[in-house]
Amino acid sequence: MQLHPLPLPDSADPLKLKNFGREVTGINPCLASADEFEQIEKALYEYDALLFRNLDLSPKQQHELTKRFDPTATTYAHLGGGVTKMQNIKGSILSGYLNTIPNVPQVQLIGHGHLTDYHNIPDVTLKHGHHSAFHQTRIPPEEEQNPPNGVTPTRFFRWHMDAALYDLEPPKVTTLYGIRVPQGPKQVVRYDDGTGDELPVPLGTTAFVSGKTMFGMLPPDLKSFAVRARAKYAPRPFAWIKDAKAMSTGLGIATKGLEKNLDELDDWDEEKVKTYPFLWKNRVTHNLHFMVHPCAVREIFVDPLPADVPRRDTHLYPDGAHLTDLDEVRTLLYRMQRPAIAPRLVYPHDWNERDLMVFHNRGLMHSVVGLFREDDLRVFHQCNLAATDQPEGPNEEDRAGIYGLMD
Ligand SMILES: [Fe+2]
Repeated sequence: MQLHPLPLPDSADPLKLKNFGREVTGINPCLASADEFEQIEKALYEYDALLFRNLDLSPKQQHELTKRFDPTATTYAHLGGGVTKMQNIKGSILSGYLNTIPNVPQVQLIGHGHLTDYHNIPDVTLKHGHHSAFHQTRIPPEEEQNPPNGVTPTRFFRWHMDAALYDLEPPKVTTLYGIRVPQGPKQVVRYDDGTGDELPVPLGTTAFVSGKTMFGMLPPDLKSFAVRARAKYAPRPFAWIKDAKAMSTGLGIATKGLEKNLDELDDWDEEKVKTYPFLWKNRVTHNLHFMVHPCAVREIFVDPLPADVPRRDTHLYPDGAHLTDLDEVRTLLYRMQRPAIAPRLVYPHDWNERDLMVFHNRGLMHSVVGLFREDDLRVFHQCNLAATDQPEGPNEEDRAGIYGLMD
């Protein structure tokens, strides 16, 4: 088994991305022995994403491979109680994009275009997320159709990790397998946030950013905040924001009061509401990854600084806090996450047919990108499994190291 750096686009900062992702050759992951699988798993946590090319992979094999990264996991990430229907995403922003493969309900069919008689699905129209369905502003349709400089503009649809964030624990690993990959000219992601940031991308890329970099690049005061912070998610968060609209960067929601009232949501239970640390500890490298779903968060808890840590003016909330003002919560989070989606820090994967990307879903964020023509056909299989354990946060030693940065 050999590991090779992923080819980086000119937009990428090679120093920042040099340890992000590896292409794995010399092994079929589905046929890996226990020792070989251990090496693959270690590489995944070290590099956060692994690419296998030219792989033949049935839905059953994909499920088995995904489960190997978390043998105690059983159900799809958004699927509750062993049922085979996607009832947890009914009435949510996710329904319409995910189609369960009947024989292997842990695997979802995603993409763009119309399919008939596909893995026992008689007829289905796949829908690739277009920002106009989710963002509060949109690229003018006439600019999409007739781009001023000839390059079709697009946006990051929604930055996220794959997780229900209610009732079920976030999957450790997602596998994404490209079966039909439409070819076409490059497009350009517009950030449209006043920065002028733009990122050239291959058609239909999946964009990735590292949660480790997101944390590592924060200034000391925000690091000291992050090690003490926990995000409390809304009950049934993706139904809660069904009518809300996102920022133009796809990084969280613009606060306009469009969230549903909690009593409008389907039956929910406070015990199933999730609160997770901002930082999730990598199980192999023990690095801390900034992992907060900006669309789903509703409140933030901040622990006070320990008594023996010298108080500095720059510490945020030195005495602890419970932030419940949605605008304040989102504004603070955006300030912490936006730097890490700068064009030079994004890895936009250039898909080929039969590429399998295996990614560390507890260590990075990703987004759908791109605008397809009506007759483009894109077919992907996605699998991730709700974990049986919670993400681990920073320990006392991690925290003490971060407080030391303020000295
Ligand atoms: Fe995803």
